[in-house]
Amino acid sequence: MFRNVHFRDGGGKRARWQRCVMWPNAAGVATMPPMPAARLLFVTGKGGVGKTTVAAALGQHAAKLGHRTLIVETANDGRLAHLFGHRKLDADPRRLQARLDAVRVDPRDLVEEYFSRLLRFSFLSKRLFASTTFNALTAAAPGITEFLLLERLLGWIEPGFAARRRAYEVIVVDGPATGHALKLLRTPRTLATMVPGGPLGKTARKLLALLGDHSRTQVVLVSLPEEMAVRETIETHQALQDDLALHVARPVVNRVFPRHFSATEAKELEEQMRTAEGTVAPVLSAALFSIGCRREAERHVAHLRRALGVTPVLLRQLFTADTRAEHLQHFGHTLARTVLDGMAP
Ligand SMILES: Nc1ncnc2c1ncn2[C@@H]1O[C@H](COP(=O)(O)OP(=O)(O)OP(=O)(O)O)[C@@H](O)[C@H]1O
Ligand SMILES: [Mg+2]
Repeated sequence: MFRNVHFRDGGGKRARWQRCVMWPNAAGVATMPPMPAARLLFVTGKGGVGKTTVAAALGQHAAKLGHRTLIVETANDGRLAHLFGHRKLDADPRRLQARLDAVRVDPRDLVEEYFSRLLRFSFLSKRLFASTTFNALTAAAPGITEFLLLERLLGWIEPGFAARRRAYEVIVVDGPATGHALKLLRTPRTLATMVPGGPLGKTARKLLALLGDHSRTQVVLVSLPEEMAVRETIETHQALQDDLALHVARPVVNRVFPRHFSATEAKELEEQMRTAEGTVAPVLSAALFSIGCRREAERHVAHLRRALGVTPVLLRQLFTADTRAEHLQHFGHTLARTVLDGMAP
């Protein structure tokens, strides 16, 4: 017999009542259906390569596939909100589209909240968070902001108090640039060694298990078809995969010029350019510019493929004046087919 039961999902103001079907077990006793593990997709790459764009495309596509999805913004620059037509995101998840929420995490808020929980007198935490003291505090406790950010992620990934249903099935982190991302992803390991026992050690081990579970957590490295970006991608890929033993998805090369002309056509255009005059010359140079950009991109993609032994996922250069989430639908499709292997509804 199947029964409908109600349970409270999450805590605090945003808690809501959910309905769930109970399944009979072998003995005919109603139990909860097996809970699929929530997946974590951590997007990182050099500054400005398209991390937010990729995180938005992934989140949007996961939601379209039917997964309850949360995108976590770590940059606090309003870019993710803008893609979805909002001015900014809040510290509480906000609905962007059907099954898709987004939230902003501010390290300063996280640290402040943590110490307010620890200190009994609010005037003490207020003093502590005067701007100069804040910097001294985070310097005295290295890794605290990284730890609290990951702990917050864990709160969204793990089942709530009732342990019946997760609020989210897919969490996409629009992560910081590579240097900081490496520090962040290394934190649980460092902490688990430094603090083996107690609540801190327990959370660090949980995080370590989550990040190390290749069926749940993937790091998505975004790059550009440029020398510096490719070099940084190769180094980061090695650090993530070899040093931290994380599951790194096929690298994403963003802003690759589309291939408009075949090799024969390109040769012909180059030939015509030698004698071109008048109004046709600028058109030909635009075509040759696009051919040059494509060739350059292919050279960098080949370098990345040789260095890592995997074929990168290519996302094309967009020519929209103001990119919005709806322009990213085909990116989501490409990423889901290749990066998110197996993420079917
Ligand atoms: N495929 C693309 N085609 C055209 N423009 C793009 C593409 N991908 C990203 N952009 C543009 O490049 C800029 C940077 O993209 P985005 O904000 O996604 O990068 P980011 O890595 O998140 O940057 P940051 O390091 O500042 O957080 C934005 O203006 C975005 O619209
Ligand atoms: Mg960004």
